[in-house]
Amino acid sequence: MTTKRKVRKAVIPAAGFGTRFLPIAKSVPKEMLPLVDKPVIQWVVEEAVESGITDILLVISRSKRSIEEHFNSVPELESQLEAKGRIDDLKELRRLQSMAKIHFVWQPRMAGLGDAILQAREHVGDEPFAVLLGDSVVTSDSDQSVTRQLADLVETHGGSAVALQEVPEEKVSRYGIVGGEDLGNGVIRANSFIEKPTVAEAPSRWAVSARYVLSPSIFETLEQTAAGKGGELQITDAMASLMREEPLHGLLFSGRRHDIGNKLDFIKANLHFGLQHPEIGGALRAYVESIARNI
Ligand code: G1P
Repeated sequence: MTTKRKVRKAVIPAAGFGTRFLPIAKSVPKEMLPLVDKPVIQWVVEEAVESGITDILLVISRSKRSIEEHFNSVPELESQLEAKGRIDDLKELRRLQSMAKIHFVWQPRMAGLGDAILQAREHVGDEPFAVLLGDSVVTSDSDQSVTRQLADLVETHGGSAVALQEVPEEKVSRYGIVGGEDLGNGVIRANSFIEKPTVAEAPSRWAVSARYVLSPSIFETLEQTAAGKGGELQITDAMASLMREEPLHGLLFSGRRHDIGNKLDFIKANLHFGLQHPEIGGALRAYVESIARNI
């Protein structure tokens, strides 16, 4: 059955080990690393809220408790800020706690992105939902976030939708790759979907980029999907099966994915957001220009 209901819920998988970012990810969840002054996970939650999401489920694991703490209230800190007259800081803390209803569920075993999403089954129920990977911040060049644009596609056509970016050939084997028909305006009607293919297997260079809006039928399909690449339950494989019954659209969005799960992109993302920051942007630009002159 194809659903055309409003997208109100989001699932943020944030349980993975972060093996591309060791040693820091051993003790600090990569999702808690700062982009300027906010942990990555807060940027992701804000992106969901900006997309019209009012209910968020974070999928976490052992050693990720600090994520829970970040979204919890700390009454002693609040009274201290109030006593010191730091009203802006206080408002910012309260805004963080009231942005959306935030829930947590644990993923007991690291058994893949499909398995992480399956942990959300009870919470999501029978409605379409967004998935925002917790280690990536996606910015949009338009005034609508990428997740919002995906939700619009699903609210119009039913089925599911994924964010796509065209990648060079040598990078296709790092991503889920979608093949299909280009309907114009960046919208692809998918007819194949392969997790981390070789260049020869890849149907295109359209790579899935950390944002999805999924039909609730995905849960049933995931239950019936066998482990795939890396012995893990892959959301890509389940979506490829479901595509035979319900439409899957891809959106070649205009914007940028900041993958903070690796060192280089993490530093680039801090520069990107730091340069735009009202308090430190000017001084940071001067510093970057000064080091660039000396290289
Ligand atoms: C996951 C997905 C992959 C997708 C990628 C980026 O891979 O399995 O299909 O392209 O995220 O969104 P991972 O980066 O977790 O290996």
